[in-house]
Amino acid sequence: KGCKLVGCGSAVPGLQISNDDLAKIVDTSDEWISVRTGIRNRRVLSGKDSLVGLAAEAAKKALQMAEVDADDVDLVLMCTSTPEDLFGSAPQIPKALGCKNNPLAYDITAACSGFVLGLVSAGCYIRGGGFNNVLVIGADALSRYVDWTDRGTCILFGDAAGAVLVQACDSEEDGLFAFDLHSDGEGQRHLNATIKQKETDHLLGTNGSLLGFSPRNSSYSCIQMNGKEVFRFAVRIVPQSIESALEKAGLAGSDIDWLLLHQANQRIIDAVATRLEVPSERVISNLANFGNTSAASIPLALDEAVRSGKVQPGHTIAAAGFGAGLTWGSAIVRW
Ligand code: ACO
Repeated sequence: KGCKLVGCGSAVPGLQISNDDLAKIVDTSDEWISVRTGIRNRRVLSGKDSLVGLAAEAAKKALQMAEVDADDVDLVLMCTSTPEDLFGSAPQIPKALGCKNNPLAYDITAACSGFVLGLVSAGCYIRGGGFNNVLVIGADALSRYVDWTDRGTCILFGDAAGAVLVQACDSEEDGLFAFDLHSDGEGQRHLNATIKQKETDHLLGTNGSLLGFSPRNSSYSCIQMNGKEVFRFAVRIVPQSIESALEKAGLAGSDIDWLLLHQANQRIIDAVATRLEVPSERVISNLANFGNTSAASIPLALDEAVRSGKVQPGHTIAAAGFGAGLTWGSAIVRW
């Protein structure tokens, strides 16, 4: 059995924040940000916006493009590190789409690698598990976990959602050629947003805890990042990962129509393209407008490239995600 990509969609919040806007709250400039990162604008959730709302909008557009009914979706994989419910946001998507068939829906947490992992998982479910229509959604709102006083991180991120519908097909039509997925927990110290625990003192009696332990309330710290280390990691690991996936697919770099990397920094994208000898006209980039949207960045850029006619049916795409965990992964797919 094979699986193929049959539709895509995306959604971004209405509020746009420019580099000049950020220069009003931290000591930075449009020039510094655009030269070091390639980012000029980003969208940020505000007011009544919700991540689930964005994700559902992206998913709806993907179903419309594929001309597939919401009731025919049998699995929803919501790739996000910023769910609106600790227990997972995914079941809210079929609810919002009005699916009457109660499809399996769960979250995948793998930061900026989440979407590639979701895509590969969709392929495995279709090949081994009898699933037919899998919605893979990448959606993140890192603006909720950014320290808005830290100029080293608050300039990088934006909020967005992107979705792809992966469908079962005959093996001759298979569009997921090969993949390569990894993690390195050692590197977590370079990029994280860890748990913060606060003891609830009012439950302490005069002789100590009434329960034999101190109950705690938890939340998460803001994003902490060593930008230089993450940069070095990405430039080293992403070309290796794509080369490994290409080798498994029996393809060479020259067979790629499009290089579609997680949109973190234009300098990372350029360095990887140079290492793989992919010319700049075959590299997809939209981070100037949206910044680093974490798990959403690959489907967001794919959707724009498909709808603008850049990516055509039959094109081969090398996609790679990398980020916190640390995690990274590549997939060679046909649109
Ligand atoms: N404006 C002005 N100056 C700044 C800013 C800013 N926004 N941010 C940092 N600086 C200053 C620093 O304070 C430092 O000043 P100093 O030399 O006086 O100490 C100087 O600029 C250089 O800082 P660096 O951090 O060394 O700058 P660098 O060239 O490494 O660029 C950047 C920083 C853009 C963050 C880069 O390291 C990068 O893009 N790294 C990759 C990050 C990334 O992709 N992270 C996301 C991973 S995806 C995920 O999973 C969430």
